[in-house]
Amino acid sequence: MGEGIGDYTKNVIDLRRHMWMAGVEVELRRLIWQIAVVGKYISAKIHEANRKLAGLKNIYGEEQLSLDRSSDEILKNQLQFSGFVREYASEEQEAIVKIGTGREKYIVTADPLDGSSLVETNLAIGTIIGIHKEAVFDTGKNTMVAALYITYGPLITMVYSAGCGTHEFVLNREGEYVLAQENIRLKENGSIFSPGGLRNEWIPEHLRFIEQLEKDGYKLRYSGGFVPDINQVLIKKGGLFTYPALRKSPQGKLRLLFELQPMAFIMEQAGGQATDGRTDILSLKVESLDQRSPIYIGSSAEVQMVKQFLK
Ligand code: AHG
Ligand code: MN
Ligand code: MN
Repeated sequence: MGEGIGDYTKNVIDLRRHMWMAGVEVELRRLIWQIAVVGKYISAKIHEANRKLAGLKNIYGEEQLSLDRSSDEILKNQLQFSGFVREYASEEQEAIVKIGTGREKYIVTADPLDGSSLVETNLAIGTIIGIHKEAVFDTGKNTMVAALYITYGPLITMVYSAGCGTHEFVLNREGEYVLAQENIRLKENGSIFSPGGLRNEWIPEHLRFIEQLEKDGYKLRYSGGFVPDINQVLIKKGGLFTYPALRKSPQGKLRLLFELQPMAFIMEQAGGQATDGRTDILSLKVESLDQRSPIYIGSSAEVQMVKQFLK
C-alpha cells in the first residue's frame, strides 16, 4: 500500500495535518489547503500542454486558452466557492475581482503561472500566492498572513508559511501533499547566486556586487523561472536571487504584490531577508497592482552585503 491518504499509521504528515498541528487558524488552513489542491488542476493543464508540443490537438478540438489564462480561471473559480476569500487580485486580471459575499476574511493575490514561456523548454515553472487580511494597498508587513508557492518540476512541491516557519511538501502519487521539510532555516551565507536582467543593463553598483560574489566563488544558478530559482536558494539553505534595477527599467521586472511579497514572506520565515537594495520588501507600500521593484532575496549575509554596495 502506498503512503498517503489517511495513512497515519505510517506517521506520514500531510499538509492538513501539519497545519492543524502547527496551530494555523482553521479558516486559513482550509484556504491554504484549497489552493494547494488547485495546484493539482494547474499541473494537469501543464501536462495537457505536452499534447501541443507533440503536435496534437486539444482533446476536445477547442481553441485553447494560454496556460497563464487557464491557470487564472481555475484559481479564480475555485476561490469563488471557497467561502474564505472576498477579493482576488491576479497578475492576469486588470483589476481586483470581488468574489464571495464580501464578508469573507481574506484577499488572495496570485501569479497563477510564473514562467509560462519555459514550458516548451521543459524547465520548471510555478504558482505564487499571497494571502492578506484587510487590504493589499499597504505594506506586506501590515497585511500579509500567509504565502505559498508551488513548483511544477520533475516533482510537484509546495512551500508555505502562515507565519510560523517555512515548510516544504511534496505531492505523492496518491495526490497528497506530504511533509518533506519542516522549519527550513537558511544559513547565514550561501554559495549560489541567481542574477536576472542583462549584464550590460546593470547599474555599476550592482555589477560590482555581482563581481564580488564571483570573486568569492559563488556558483551561477539561473533558470529564468522565478519560482524554481527562489526554491533552489531555499532548499540549498542559502545564496541569493536578484532581479535588479536596470538602466532602462529602474524598477526592475518583477511585481511587488504578486511575486515579491509572497517570496519575501516565505524567505523571512526561513531566516532569510529580502530588500530592494535599501528597504525591506515587506516594508514597501503597494500603490498599484502592477507595481514593480528591484529585489535581492536570500541569506542574510548576501542581502546585507548588497546594501553596502548600493549605498
Ligand atoms: P511571468 O512568466 O509571470 O511573466 O514571469 C517571468 C519572470 C520570472 O519567472 C523570472 O524570474 C523572470 O521573468 C526572468 O526574466 P528574464 O527573462 O529577463 O531573465
Ligand atoms: Mn511572474
Ligand atoms: Mn505569470
